[in-house]
Amino acid sequence: MSPPIEYELRRRTFLAGAATLTASTALPWTANAKESGMQTANAEPVGPETSRISLRVNGESRTLELDNRTSLLDALREHMGLTGTKKGCDHGQCGACTVSVNGQRINSCLSLAVMHEGDEVTTIEGLGTPDDLHPMQAAFAEHDGFQCGYCTPGQICSATAVLEEIKAGVPSYVTGDLTGPIEMSDAEIRERMSGNICRCGAYSNILAAINDVAES
Ligand code: FES
Ligand code: FES
Repeated sequence: MSPPIEYELRRRTFLAGAATLTASTALPWTANAKESGMQTANAEPVGPETSRISLRVNGESRTLELDNRTSLLDALREHMGLTGTKKGCDHGQCGACTVSVNGQRINSCLSLAVMHEGDEVTTIEGLGTPDDLHPMQAAFAEHDGFQCGYCTPGQICSATAVLEEIKAGVPSYVTGDLTGPIEMSDAEIRERMSGNICRCGAYSNILAAINDVAES
């Protein structure tokens, strides 16, 4: 079975390809997915530079009027007050801004908010609460999977998606056998988490936390 197109457009593939494209075509994979007909909803223009966009964030319907140039990351942080999602590099290199859109992880700094009309977005705030942690949040706490914590929301959003991707049989660069279920291994997890940088170097504890959830 062929993997979905959005998985084929892996981050590194995108970055390599983007270097050869003009700025107008250098869009993140969500744009390519929409161009391929996967989604058709459009934000409503309300001026030469602004649009009205409706989407669901952490299960709540939200409607916003935004400058067309607003990234999804800035829409979440500056316009919805969801500051759990972090801005590290603001150009697709650190993974701190990782969120889930329609069940797939993306770098929200690389995606314009107006591209997400009708989408279902889940941020770290939507995964769990301090009184009712998501298993991945609990595992990060138990295994000391952070030091300063700045990268942690992105790491946790990515980690939950990684387990779903492996379960769904989506291969990575290090997957050896493409004919059967993908074996959970440290190499698989490291490769799939390689877009999430931790400047504190908590990688071994992050790996332990993800393995803990995978095993349970
Ligand atoms: Fe988006 Fe660094 S802030 S990848
Ligand atoms: Fe500090 Fe990852 S915990 S950057």
